[in-house]
Amino acid sequence: MTIGFILNGEDVVVRTEADIRLIDILRDTFGLTGAKNGCLTGKCGSCAVIFNGNITQSCLIPAFRIRDSEIITIEGFSQTDEYQDIIEGFARSSLENCGFCNTGKILAAESLLQRTPRPNREEILAGFDDVKCRCTDPESLVEAIQAVVEIRQRRLYGRS
Ligand code: FES
Ligand code: FES
Repeated sequence: MTIGFILNGEDVVVRTEADIRLIDILRDTFGLTGAKNGCLTGKCGSCAVIFNGNITQSCLIPAFRIRDSEIITIEGFSQTDEYQDIIEGFARSSLENCGFCNTGKILAAESLLQRTPRPNREEILAGFDDVKCRCTDPESLVEAIQAVVEIRQRRLYGRS
């Protein structure tokens, strides 16, 4: 089947089978390897992408579901000012980082802040439900997101 969708802001078309996973299309057809092969069962978060505005595990998305969708991978997102806000905020907090779930953590942060620009503690923790991070303690995560909010507010409006 032939499927058209928007990938990192560009219209693309792929020829594939209906049940091929999105993670394999990203990696094998487009060479986008930021979505990592982890558990392949939707449990680890290492294959995360933003799918129609929501953080989603790309190992759980079969090809037939991507028709006419909008997908942002870490490669596309890393070209944006919003990405820089998150990297700066994470660096400012005491967030532990082994690197395994970086893609999931960064995209979960953006997905959360798109929906809720000033999330409270509970909203922050809920926003990371799908990222199974072995290293980060919840309070560091809250601190990191609050730092990102401050950085973003200052960049956009000159105040926090
Ligand atoms: S590889 Fe997709 S959630 Fe683990
Ligand atoms: S930073 Fe190590 S698993 Fe998340």
